[in-house]
Amino acid sequence: MVILVLIWCPFGVHTDLNPIKRYTGLELPKNRRHLLSLSDFYIPSKGLVPPESLDLRDKGLVTDVKDQGHCKSCYIFSAVASIEGQFAKATGKLVTLSEQKYLDCVSHNCSKGGWQGDVFNYARTDGGLPKDTIYPYVGKEQECHNNKSQNIAADSGYMTVSRDEQTIKSALFEIGPLAVSLFASNHFRYNYTKDSGVYRDDPCSDQKVNHGVLLVGYGVDEKEGPFWLIKNSWGVEWGERGYVRLERSSRNVACLMSQQPIYPIVAAPAN
Ligand SMILES: *[C@@H]1O[C@H](CO)[C@@H](O)[C@H](O)[C@H]1NC(C)=O
Ligand SMILES: *[C@@H]1O[C@H](CO)[C@@H](O)[C@H](O)[C@H]1NC(C)=O
Ligand SMILES: *[C@@H]1O[C@H](CO)[C@@H](O)[C@H](O)[C@H]1NC(C)=O
Repeated sequence: MVILVLIWCPFGVHTDLNPIKRYTGLELPKNRRHLLSLSDFYIPSKGLVPPESLDLRDKGLVTDVKDQGHCKSCYIFSAVASIEGQFAKATGKLVTLSEQKYLDCVSHNCSKGGWQGDVFNYARTDGGLPKDTIYPYVGKEQECHNNKSQNIAADSGYMTVSRDEQTIKSALFEIGPLAVSLFASNHFRYNYTKDSGVYRDDPCSDQKVNHGVLLVGYGVDEKEGPFWLIKNSWGVEWGERGYVRLERSSRNVACLMSQQPIYPIVAAPAN
């Protein structure tokens, strides 16, 4: 049994049975509703009809799957991935950006979670983020190296998307990847594999939302029906090469994705 598990999972995703909280880390701010009320809401362009299915990986807006390790930094990966998407859209260049800078310079603590909106605020007010080749992820807090001349991608705030399915599909089609939050259970971490198909879970409540991820598309599986396509930050050994197809239903919009998606406003650098 042990041998089989090791063969299936060379990087230990399923053998390393730490509690789920070590691999998630979404903590919504208490005044989140107020914060979102200050941001603008996305409104689909008139007459926009989103396609039946969409995979933003095909549009050059999604970097390779990363691994947050034993650190409650999911929300940083979720936010940075959506900045990467909007930066690629604005410049035509898909570059991987640094999560570690936020961890070192703002959070300072892998035992403490946070919220994607705070990462967008940081990338706005501190002049942005460097490439992660310059400031690589190590998965634990270290000293802050803040060399502003290395920053390449900044935002000027973020937008909020309302939680109805049509609006979310339109935003994915028209804008790009969205930072979303879901409920990740132990079952989700340890039992979702490439053979699981479309993921379904027991109903959950708003309070349980614990994980920040990136929504990158949607589609319909011939056998299993409609799904959302989601990029996780648990490495490529988890799920479907690091992705999950999450059942797309009203229950999931209400429950597993119970928070409004958000995305950063990113313009191409001036030079
Ligand atoms: C890190 O965060 C945890 C959880 O909030 C807290 O208990 C701990 O004191 C923090 N550590 C430091 C060094 O700030
Ligand atoms: C900051 O980054 C610039 C550009 O990469 C580099 O030339 C400079 O030496 C760096 N400064 C420090 C203090 O590391
Ligand atoms: C994973 O699946 C196995 C076999 O079906 C089951 O025994 C186990 O309880 C599941 N683990 C979780 C965390 O759901």
